[in-house]
Amino acid sequence: MLRFDDRVAIITGAGHGLGRSHALLLAERGAKVVVNDLGGALDGTGASAGPAAEVVELITKNGGQAVANAGNVATPEGARALVQAAVDAFGKVDIVVNNAGILRDKSFGKMTVEEFDGVLAVHVRGSYLVSQAAYPLMKAAGYGRIVNTSSPAGLFGNFGQANYSTAKMGLVGLTKTLGIEGARNGIRANAIAPVAWTRMTESLLPAEFAAKFTPERVSALVAYLVHESCEVSGEVFTVGGGRVARVFVAEGPGWKTDDLTPEAIAGNWDAVMAEQPYVLTAADSMKAML
Ligand code: NAI
Repeated sequence: MLRFDDRVAIITGAGHGLGRSHALLLAERGAKVVVNDLGGALDGTGASAGPAAEVVELITKNGGQAVANAGNVATPEGARALVQAAVDAFGKVDIVVNNAGILRDKSFGKMTVEEFDGVLAVHVRGSYLVSQAAYPLMKAAGYGRIVNTSSPAGLFGNFGQANYSTAKMGLVGLTKTLGIEGARNGIRANAIAPVAWTRMTESLLPAEFAAKFTPERVSALVAYLVHESCEVSGEVFTVGGGRVARVFVAEGPGWKTDDLTPEAIAGNWDAVMAEQPYVLTAADSMKAML
């Protein structure tokens, strides 16, 4: 059994849905958990200390250890205070699961700059800020596990979610670079792109998905990725309904010529679009170009 005794985990947005499930699972397996949640509505408006406190109460009732933090991860002060809460309560931070998220869906032509920025602030800036606040502690300890929460909507695009898709693909870039930079200090970073029945999706998914796409079926992957035995880093996985799959950024073999003109590209478009074999790293990509 993969356990987390003596590990300290920060889970953001853990008052509801997926984050709550991650927090309960890690606590049940021995982790000391900081349950963060701003407690607002799905669009990020409002705030309440209730949801984080309720999850802490449940963990404590079940014999686990947890403290609540109702701060906003999208602000530097909120992120700093969250990491400080972990240090004050438990003395360190081993695990950060960046899960907090909001939705402000709107078709592209109608999206306002506030709707765009507001969504990026929680998902991208929030994940950056909380990880960065914890980073010096992880570096000093030579150990850290970070999971960022992307989405199939970001990896593959989705109508009405230009802001959300941008944010969720941004997290892939953040994860990949963090995986590279963290390597020499024992810090591993990965991203998940989940599907689960939560307040975020209950009006979008068919009712029969509720029993199959449980948050617990996502948390199992999160727990594996943040365990000390997992050395995987810089990877992205879709997870939902009991299935886990690697998602990768790939590049086709490409087509080249010494005389690259717009017309030459148009005339060789099928070769440009060819898919096999895949190129998986920036170095392979550069090699192919060279
Ligand atoms: P949820 O709405 O139940 O949970 C999100 C939590 O984040 C809420 O409790 C909310 O209060 C909290 N939160 C929002 N802004 C915050 C902030 N600034 N600071 C601290 N906490 C904040 O939704 P769900 O489904 O559990 O989503 C969790 C994560 O998974 C999100 O990042 C979401 O985008 C992502 N996701 C979920 C999918 C699904 O199928 N449920 C699909 C793809 C991605």
